[in-house]
Amino acid sequence: MVDGTDDLLTRGRTFAPDPDFAARATAGPELAEEAGRDRLAFWARQAHERVSWERPPTETLDWSDPPFARWFADGTLNVAVNCLDRHVDAGHGDRVALHWEGEPGDSRSLTYAELTREVKRAANLLTSLGVVAGDRVVIYLPQIPEAVVAMLAVARLGAVHSVVFGGFSAESLRARIDDAQAVLVITADGGWRKGAVSPLKPAVDAALAADGPATVRNVLVVRRGGNEVDWTEGRDLWWHEQLEGVADEHEAEAFDAEHPLFILYTSGTTGKPKGILHTSGGYLTQVAYTHATVFDLKPETDVWWCTADVGWITGHSYVVYGPLANGATQVLYEGTPDFPAAGRWWDVVEKYGVTLFYTAPTAIRSVMKAGREIPQARDLSSLRLLGSVGEPINPEAWLWYREVIGADRLPIVDTWWQTETGAIMVSPLPGVTTTKPGAAQTPLPGVSVDVVDDDGTPVAPGGSGLLVVTEPWPSMLRGIWGDRDRYVETYWSRFGDRYFAGDGARRDEDGDIWLLGRVDDVMNVSGHRLSTAEIESALVSHAVVAESAVVGAADEATGQAVVAFVVLRDKAKVDLDPEEAAASLRRHVAEQIGAIARPRTVVLVDELPKTRSGKIMRRLLRDVAEGREIGDTTTLADAAVMGVISAEMR
Ligand code: WT7
Repeated sequence: MVDGTDDLLTRGRTFAPDPDFAARATAGPELAEEAGRDRLAFWARQAHERVSWERPPTETLDWSDPPFARWFADGTLNVAVNCLDRHVDAGHGDRVALHWEGEPGDSRSLTYAELTREVKRAANLLTSLGVVAGDRVVIYLPQIPEAVVAMLAVARLGAVHSVVFGGFSAESLRARIDDAQAVLVITADGGWRKGAVSPLKPAVDAALAADGPATVRNVLVVRRGGNEVDWTEGRDLWWHEQLEGVADEHEAEAFDAEHPLFILYTSGTTGKPKGILHTSGGYLTQVAYTHATVFDLKPETDVWWCTADVGWITGHSYVVYGPLANGATQVLYEGTPDFPAAGRWWDVVEKYGVTLFYTAPTAIRSVMKAGREIPQARDLSSLRLLGSVGEPINPEAWLWYREVIGADRLPIVDTWWQTETGAIMVSPLPGVTTTKPGAAQTPLPGVSVDVVDDDGTPVAPGGSGLLVVTEPWPSMLRGIWGDRDRYVETYWSRFGDRYFAGDGARRDEDGDIWLLGRVDDVMNVSGHRLSTAEIESALVSHAVVAESAVVGAADEATGQAVVAFVVLRDKAKVDLDPEEAAASLRRHVAEQIGAIARPRTVVLVDELPKTRSGKIMRRLLRDVAEGREIGDTTTLADAAVMGVISAEMR
């Protein structure tokens, strides 16, 4: 657990920066001083130095209509040109942009010159399919170079991509295509996962079936899995066929800094996912800045590897836009860490000489479980920095990461941020911060956060409360697609002028920040965000379910796990075998949302614990799911119900 008890494990151990590392670090303490003197001037400098503008901005922040921020609003740029052409123009065309490693062991390296050409061709193809600036394009692809090419081609045209993680179901895909009113879907026949082809095209076909969204004109299909696919003539087109003979010259247009770049859907506290909207100039500024300083990037010599899928925000910011804006060389890997055997990741590190490695605590815990012999049998000496993201990292995993993967020497950066923040907000700076296992610690230079109590009063050192961001930041979300009010309500209604992140946090005696997990009905399973309400509505859409309540229960492997309490309809209770019913409900959730949402445990109960006003008391269910003594039940309408549920859980 990440709270005061971690001192037992770490005994308050801290890790001062290595002097050699510090001497060569990209960022020094002067960065915080500069930002402290004049925050906006600091961001303006970052924007001018890290981004190539067609027309450099003279304005920094327009906060005249809060919470709707405009950053660098009179500047114009093309985001794709920033990630590609400018590096070629600067003489780095032969530098490798992507070392791609397919799961079956095939591989492909693309230089900046090659990637630029591919993106230009793809942009020409999209234009020929009628895609224009502002159109939405849904991308549903495996972790292959075409995913990066597709995103950048869309961005190059000033169109808006919405990448949907390949693990989401047809139903989730349909809802996202529909909400974004996409004109084009880019997908693949299938991708490789744990030794087999996992088909993708059938989900697109199902999402676009007769009653599906009518806005989609075409489906572009990349051939990757080689699996058989159904074909809708006139709508479906093979990517490789369409690209034949397409010119690799493309004149990119510049767009306003506030031109939309992408929508990425994420779970909120209701059943309907939120389309988080990000724009161009501010987003690019902050992802480039954070990628360079938090990870100490030296683009000429480093090999960057972020293990996240491009379907998540981490993949957007630290696989695509940050690293490519910075001209980095990186590894892109299609598969899972343990295929064909545990140790595949470390083979990849060795093969490409990875120097900077960024992954999630859940992955660290799973490699920990497989045993230290596995990484120790590989040469990991190329590594010089390790990063963590997605959930609080437990000190035990942090210490193991440093000792076993980091040769007891490498700096670790625990980076806190969200889909909404677009880029890293709270993190140690390598070579500057003395790190504490389990803490994200300090807001980055230019970022202002606080920990406050329910009334919005900052907590004293040693106190716990809620994390807020107190000043606008360049890569902040600009809203929720198509839902102005929900944006204001979700993030800005609680404390008015401060952004409410939804996370609990503690400030220790030194003023350092420790993240404590979500405080709302959002779960974090393996670093992925899931909504209890969304899973509940999937469950009640099943014919046998009368009512359900879902909670996130602490889980050693995945951080939190989905536990569903379900009341069956009376007839189903009689007709169904309980085990079969539970199995079919788990399957149903995976079909409705995606495999990541499949409940670990389904508990069939006769009744749910409710207050007299009918509100489900999730706190009590969480107690049961985590095997704790049940807390205060005095507000329950029927005090006996918890006794029955606890018995059923056992
Ligand atoms: C939520 C955001 C940011 C990319 C991955 C997840 C949790 C994220 C940390 C961290 C503690 C963390 C928070 C946050 N979270 N990083 N270093 N320490 N918690 O993006 O799906 O938007 O989820 O992930 O709870 O609110 P996301």
